[in-house]
Amino acid sequence: MTELHLSGDGAAPSVHPDANWWRQAAVYQIYPRSFADSNGDGMGDLPGVTARMGYLSELGIDAIWLSPFYPSALADGGYDVDDYRNVDPRLGSLDDFDAMVASAHAAGIRVIVDVVPNHSSNRHEWFKAALASAPGSPERARYQFFDGLPDGKGDDGGLPPSDWPSHFGGPAWTRVVETAGPRAGSLGQWYLHLFATEQPDFNWDHPEVREDFHTTLRFWADRGVDGFRVDVAHGLAKDMSLPLRSKPALKILVDDGTDPLFDRDDVHEIFAGWRTVLNEYDPPRAAVAEAWVPFTERRLKYARPTELGQAFNFDLLEAPFSADDFRSIAEKCLSEAEASGASSTWVFSNHDVIRHASRYALPDGSTPEDLNAWLMADGATPVPDVARGVRRARAATLFMLGLPGSAYLYQGEELGLLEVADLPRESLQDPTWFRTLNTIKGRDGCRVPLPWTSTDANFGFGGTPWLPQPEWFGPLAAGAQDGVAGSTLELYRAALKLRRELQAEESLQWLASASPEVVSYRRPNGWQVVTNFGAVPAQLPAGVDLSKLVLSSGGAAAGEFDTEMIAPESTLWFAP
Ligand code: NOJ
Repeated sequence: MTELHLSGDGAAPSVHPDANWWRQAAVYQIYPRSFADSNGDGMGDLPGVTARMGYLSELGIDAIWLSPFYPSALADGGYDVDDYRNVDPRLGSLDDFDAMVASAHAAGIRVIVDVVPNHSSNRHEWFKAALASAPGSPERARYQFFDGLPDGKGDDGGLPPSDWPSHFGGPAWTRVVETAGPRAGSLGQWYLHLFATEQPDFNWDHPEVREDFHTTLRFWADRGVDGFRVDVAHGLAKDMSLPLRSKPALKILVDDGTDPLFDRDDVHEIFAGWRTVLNEYDPPRAAVAEAWVPFTERRLKYARPTELGQAFNFDLLEAPFSADDFRSIAEKCLSEAEASGASSTWVFSNHDVIRHASRYALPDGSTPEDLNAWLMADGATPVPDVARGVRRARAATLFMLGLPGSAYLYQGEELGLLEVADLPRESLQDPTWFRTLNTIKGRDGCRVPLPWTSTDANFGFGGTPWLPQPEWFGPLAAGAQDGVAGSTLELYRAALKLRRELQAEESLQWLASASPEVVSYRRPNGWQVVTNFGAVPAQLPAGVDLSKLVLSSGGAAAGEFDTEMIAPESTLWFAP
């Protein structure tokens, strides 16, 4: 019989036992070391999150998702985990974690934590044991250790087992100096790391690896965690049968299940096992897959109720600000979610991408290479049209927050924060910067610690931040926007409050509009959303009742509109 863990008997209480809370939740992503620093060491921490629970509650979000706060050397911002069931002492303690969960639950906010199953850090006990053991030992079997290939110069293992590149640049293999066995003291086997050298990939065919992650899920669920965000969910099952050399180089994104490393059919067996664990709890714990898989029916498998329940789709995040793209993506994702039994997810920004207010300020059609070139030019060329970027970001947010499904928001977007494109080179920490030999700048610019006030040292963040904050953060600080009509913070607050009213059945009806630049939809309970993606004013759709206008991304308060036009690059919400 399945053991049922009822929240309450020793575990932190859940907010209330609604098993479907996640389906239309507004989830706020906290990047812990950049959120709020309670002890002045320049690094955000868990007590800092607890101290800001009032802010989060007032913002009107339903859940927080914390990026990793586990012990880590921070070779990849905490996605290199030393110990899955502990808190990095720089970020607090398990007691601090419990206090944070209790305070979130008391405020009606659920807690989602990140779980990083594709790789550990190279400081994890298991990896240290693997390095201290001989090739072929049980300790090595939990990771992906292989002999190299002859280099033709006398070293029979001098070439890596395959030519796969790491996701952050450079090769995906590192050779170790053996400390045990016949080659002790010499270079020996290679281990796989799809990301940084410090992030050795697990062998998910190993039963101990599978069992240990079940233990980790239970560890946090027992502490009252309501859900999990699953890092690199599509990467766990790998075809490591020999010879590896003959397998195609890493493609990262494929859609037919033939890639040796990503989105293989076997991965679903792993998540079916996770679902069994998550369903031991009442309410069942939620989970969302981070799986950068293109839109096919393969992607929706991760989101099936028999697996994680939800999967990120990054389509809107990758799309230009355009009527056609937004509407067709929304239609596609809603039908995808319906087919899988999940609800859709929406996201514009996270800790891995250039903040969307900046993306929208750059020329339409900018490619990832263009965006990197802009970062490499310290944000100077092309000159971003900041007003336009923020205008579009606000319009996009209201377009998204009216949709059925879960909205994932990234800390700072509620302030209209822009990318910090000109971080001093010597402050950069993203492994991408180092592994690409300083040719790809990476993700630090969206991870700069938040500005809370415009008047205090370090903008009220705490100690001297681990990444420097620019002067222009001042007017964007939360305190500077608090109570200011038309500010981005007040827009988010108003929208998140109203969102609770407009949520109904998970469906919508698209409405006809006179302009191809205008997209409009109505929710079953009568709420209507109209977005003008164009650069000039456009006619509102027929039948819109201006007296019902409740929110405008353009800053106008309800009732101020007296024309039948909608401003460029803006969204309006109408109550039933
Ligand atoms: C995805 C995470 O979002 C990213 O920050 C991290 O670098 C990689 N996975 C590797 O864990």
